[in-house]
Amino acid sequence: MAGCANKRIFGAVIQDMNRMKKIRIAIDGFSSCGKSTMAKSLARAIGYTYIDSGAMYRAVTLYSMEHGIFEGDAIDTDRLCRELADIHISFRINPATGLPETYLNGENVESRIRGMEVSAKVSPISALGFVREAMVEQQQRLGQEGGIVMDGRDIGTTVFPDAELKIFVTASPEVRAQRRYDELKAKGMEANFDEVLANVKQRDYIDQHREVSPLRKAEDAILLDNTHLTIGQQQQWLLERYDEASK
Ligand code: DC
Repeated sequence: MAGCANKRIFGAVIQDMNRMKKIRIAIDGFSSCGKSTMAKSLARAIGYTYIDSGAMYRAVTLYSMEHGIFEGDAIDTDRLCRELADIHISFRINPATGLPETYLNGENVESRIRGMEVSAKVSPISALGFVREAMVEQQQRLGQEGGIVMDGRDIGTTVFPDAELKIFVTASPEVRAQRRYDELKAKGMEANFDEVLANVKQRDYIDQHREVSPLRKAEDAILLDNTHLTIGQQQQWLLERYDEASK
């Protein structure tokens, strides 16, 4: 009997979930605001797919670093433009963690794209119009069915301007640098707080002032300043926004 009752409850829950619209959730904001952590846990809680659009720009940066497209800080844009079609980026779920990891031309590059070297070079790559065009096209394809949480800088403004729920996240540069520093240290990576803070501020500046798709809050995005929020409070707040948006 208990089994039947459980089945009924479970069936009702599934029906409820099916009744809810499969929406697109855009989470934009400054670097190291914890966007990907919040996007991942929201996606997991509501059974949506999570796409980390920054990982795509990071993968193009890693490719450029490893294929001599950088000469010091200068980028050979002609070569990158020619080779862009050979850069295949995909996401696969790691069965051990249940989390998506980034693959570049079939190779798992998840940990390599998170290092300081890639972080220091990714902004100029992501400021290139032809790179953005190619990434935005892929991102739109990934989200066309709905049921997606995508985080980045231009998701609510350019990738999905008609997303049903848009969040714009911010926090003080010092708090963001501390989070990034702790994350690098926890992964056993070399880090210096002042360098991390300088990198956060430099990326803020480049992201906001680039010509193509500068970082800005979409008019209809909801602002979330998480400087003083715990992860739990933030998740609760996000679930409430999701409930409102998917009715
Ligand atoms: O979110 P992140 O720090 O991993 O992003 C890496 C870089 O890519 C960051 O400097 C901004 C850029 N980016 C972007 O321009 N547009 C996006 N949609 C996502 C990231």
